[in-house]
Amino acid sequence: MITLCHIDDIKEGKTRGFELSGLSVIALKKDGVIFLYENRCPHLGLNLEFQPDDFLNYDETYIQCSTHGAMFTLNNGECVLGPCKGESLQAISYTLLDDQIMLTEPLPSSAAS
Ligand code: FES
Repeated sequence: MITLCHIDDIKEGKTRGFELSGLSVIALKKDGVIFLYENRCPHLGLNLEFQPDDFLNYDETYIQCSTHGAMFTLNNGECVLGPCKGESLQAISYTLLDDQIMLTEPLPSSAAS
């Protein structure tokens, strides 16, 4: 398993980006729950952020791709608006160990092993 960060390192309602082992990760905390997605837009495979750690739309109600504006739900990463509507961000599974977020296998295939 790979340690991402402490659960308190992600503020409620906010996102953070991480780069590790060839994998770019979006971490989001919503209502106390952590969601992890691969930082890779299903449209053209680009990173999504507007600025470092900033993956949300203006209202902070969706993850938004900064390139063409695709909007993804927070709790399952489904694209509900934009050129990849109906596709989804790749969720990354994790477990909590002493409040540390630990990535569990298998990691998305684009990650280096
Ligand atoms: S690359 Fe994300 S919407 Fe086009």
